Amino acid sequence: MLSVSKYWVNALYRKARTSKITLPHGEVDAPVFMPVGTQGTLKGLLPEQLEELNCQIILGNTYHLGNRPGPDLLEKVGGLHKFMGWKKSLLTDSGGFQMVSLLDLAEITEEGVKFQAPHDKSVMMLTPEKSIHIQNAIGADIMMQLDDVVASTTTGPRVEEAMYRTIRWLDRGLKANKNATTQNLFPIVQGGLDPDLRRKCAQELIKRDVAGFAIGGLSGGEEKKLFCKMVSISTDILPRDKPRYLMGVGFAVDLVVCVALGCDMFDCVFPTRTARFGSALVPTGQLQLKKDKYKKDFRPIDDSCSCSTCQRYTRAYLHTVVTREPVACCLAHST
Ligand code: GUN
Repeated sequence: MLSVSKYWVNALYRKARTSKITLPHGEVDAPVFMPVGTQGTLKGLLPEQLEELNCQIILGNTYHLGNRPGPDLLEKVGGLHKFMGWKKSLLTDSGGFQMVSLLDLAEITEEGVKFQAPHDKSVMMLTPEKSIHIQNAIGADIMMQLDDVVASTTTGPRVEEAMYRTIRWLDRGLKANKNATTQNLFPIVQGGLDPDLRRKCAQELIKRDVAGFAIGGLSGGEEKKLFCKMVSISTDILPRDKPRYLMGVGFAVDLVVCVALGCDMFDCVFPTRTARFGSALVPTGQLQLKKDKYKKDFRPIDDSCSCSTCQRYTRAYLHTVVTREPVACCLAHST
């Protein structure tokens, strides 16, 4: 748990803000949590259900969408919005992070991230230019630069190397963006848990003419105090009038703390994954619907919630469904 630190106190008085982010597919009220729709679909929710829940922006992943359906088809149909029937805003991650975290054989060189394709074992290379080419085909409102990500607990010269490479890759990505007026490319602050590297990176990135910034390389098992310090150092430098997206952060307490530290946008697979495993998120934490104690509990998940699941279904019904039926992750989601 977090204790009250100087970051908290600082933050509570100075840094939290609300804003409207104007994007080609509509306005986004921030602070905002963006659900992850990796490959053109959220696990367990349809675009029309997201609209009902007033979701204004979702996430997609370049690595997955680049594999299937691929940039050629996406270009042909006019982008992912049309392809999946999603009318609101879309943000895409650049792909490198997913490759490094998902694939054993990823290798990073100055040119890009080299990896073995899982389907046919062929060796492929994702460069900063290729990542932008795919994201241009997807047509995301916000695109992320390809970054060189190291585990947050990495120390030594590799952290500095990755930070400077991330800046060089940003410049290659900015040059490659064919739709600069409609697709906003966000740089990513890296620098591990080293305050000086974080500062240097942020100071370099803000020299570029971009619409917003991301903070990456965190939430990978580092101490909470250091995590907060890195976020706070970054938001101290990033301009106040542009959105700040903290990547991969999604536990409820972290969202509250990082909003207080001046972040505006967040994403995480946590809520969708939790729902898939039969847990509903409630104001007090999680309700693990698989537990036997809900077998004869005829209350809704949350008395005070107006969502369709809480209006229609009891915990007992959901307990029965969750342990047997694929529709369960959809029901646990809507709460
Ligand atoms: N998702 C979570 N953290 C990161 C990061 O540091 N970089 C990218 N590209 N995606 C992320």
